[in-house]
Amino acid sequence: MWEHHVGGLPYAKTYEIAHRFGAEKLRPSRAEFFDHLCAHLRQIGVAPEKDVKSVFDVGCSLGYALRFLETEKFPAATCLRGIDVDQYAIKTGNAYLRQLGSKIELSAGDVSALDAAMGDLKYDVVLCCGVLMYLDEDAAARAIQTMLAHTRRLLGVISLANPGIDNINLVASYARPADQGFVHNVAGMVRQAGGRVVFRKWTDPEQASRFSLGTPLFTLAQPGPTSNS
Ligand SMILES: C[S@@+](CC[C@H](N)C(=O)[O-])C[C@H]1O[C@@H](n2cnc3c(N)ncnc32)[C@H](O)[C@@H]1O
Repeated sequence: MWEHHVGGLPYAKTYEIAHRFGAEKLRPSRAEFFDHLCAHLRQIGVAPEKDVKSVFDVGCSLGYALRFLETEKFPAATCLRGIDVDQYAIKTGNAYLRQLGSKIELSAGDVSALDAAMGDLKYDVVLCCGVLMYLDEDAAARAIQTMLAHTRRLLGVISLANPGIDNINLVASYARPADQGFVHNVAGMVRQAGGRVVFRKWTDPEQASRFSLGTPLFTLAQPGPTSNS
């Protein structure tokens, strides 16, 4: 089922738990991204399976990515939190996660109130996958700044790739005509917020047919030059 959402941008509202939870249901783009995330954690001396204790997922929907990370990648994590503006997804996801005995806690909230939602904490890993397309340039830049301020190890962002020219060359964000989804220079936003991009993968949407729900741009960032200590 497709529904219209914030700003008119549609996205797939598949609330059926059976369609979203489970390692085999994870979208290929997410599976690839989490492999890059874990590889880069190792590079900075963090063992994903024992050193990652806290994770925050911005725009978590039902919490299926957090659940995948809890069971498959970060089994030592004791704090797994997510927020999403979609109250129904949060309620449904929380109910299912309680049945599983999961430690994941989901809350309803908008990115505009992210700083308060993240509290006074820094999280080992902060994620924002497929959400910045709903935010204009100022809102996306603010979200990046807030997420970096609450990141201890790595921030991971999946956003929309710009066709033809790598997003890193964009001087401004724009809403793509097809669906008004915002395309950003995420690396530029990270740098502007004082962070450091440690990995990027841009795939030209004009060349790629692998990912059915839009071509992803991967960005991994650290909050600053001294963040490894
Ligand atoms: C395309 S889905 C991605 C869900 C999940 N992160 C993933 O990777 O599969 C986008 C999610 O962002 C959420 N979202 C959109 N705008 C938001 C906002 N302003 N604040 C919080 N969540 C938002 C939507 O409700 C939706 O769950």
